Amino acid sequence: MSTISDAARMIVEQAERGLPIVAFTGAGISQESGVPTFRGGGGIWERYAPEEVATAEGFFRDPARSWRFHEELRRTCLAGKPNMAHIALAWMENALRSLTNCPVITQNIDGLHQAAGSSDVTELHGSCHRVRCVECNFADEDLPAEFPELPPRCECGELLRPDVVWFGEQLPHGSFDRARLLAESAGVMMVVGTSATVQPAASIPIAALQHDVSLIEINPVCTTLSELIDVTIRDVAGAALPELAERVGQLLNGAGDSECKRE
Ligand code: OAD
Repeated sequence: MSTISDAARMIVEQAERGLPIVAFTGAGISQESGVPTFRGGGGIWERYAPEEVATAEGFFRDPARSWRFHEELRRTCLAGKPNMAHIALAWMENALRSLTNCPVITQNIDGLHQAAGSSDVTELHGSCHRVRCVECNFADEDLPAEFPELPPRCECGELLRPDVVWFGEQLPHGSFDRARLLAESAGVMMVVGTSATVQPAASIPIAALQHDVSLIEINPVCTTLSELIDVTIRDVAGAALPELAERVGQLLNGAGDSECKRE
């Protein structure tokens, strides 16, 4: 039996027990939407020094430099459309709705899970589509296509910053606790397109594992998690997830229309 069939069977069995089917995703799921990953060949951290553009110290040393980086990333995310992997997760949520929930925990800041239709998305690292003031409580998610000048400023006169998590910062209030609870109560966790190297996010699949949750990894390469995984699918997410969704649909509906198609 292929690994995709094993994974589909595992998902349907756990969903039929009413246990949530959780996806834990990273940059790799958006790679086929044209959003580059952080590590590996062509990764963002090959072109930029994270300590200069993605730490509070780097930002306050040179806010315009950090903003140019974030604006380039935001433009790439805005240009990217959800790919078949994002769509397959949203499709599975719908297909399993009468049995259980299918929340997504993501390290991504691109908003592509929501754009694909996933209704329960926990963003661990914030969103490139929001800004907040470094001083007052101002926050905004209605951003212009381009800021007239960088760095943009709040009406209070202080700097605006992207509402993302930089290295050395706390995760958004409540998001880590929520992700942990989801992980611990899951029936299955699909770990998709992440190197699982950045803490504390990388501890989420480990928390699932410690609660006997079955793990499925979808990644073309081996990761630090791979040896702990129950079912490994060594493929890109845009190929593996639609096939997995289709098998899940077949198990749920027999030979009915279970194809996961782009709208
Ligand atoms: P990484 O860039 O570290 O890892 C991306 C993973 O996706 C790698 O394991 C790739 O093998 C895999 N991958 C690449 N293309 C894929 C595809 N088409 N389908 C499936 N998998 C694919 O990205 P993350 O693990 O998300 O944090 O990185 C975690 C955090 O590190 C990010 O959220 C960001 C970064 O620094 C912050 O900025 C705070």
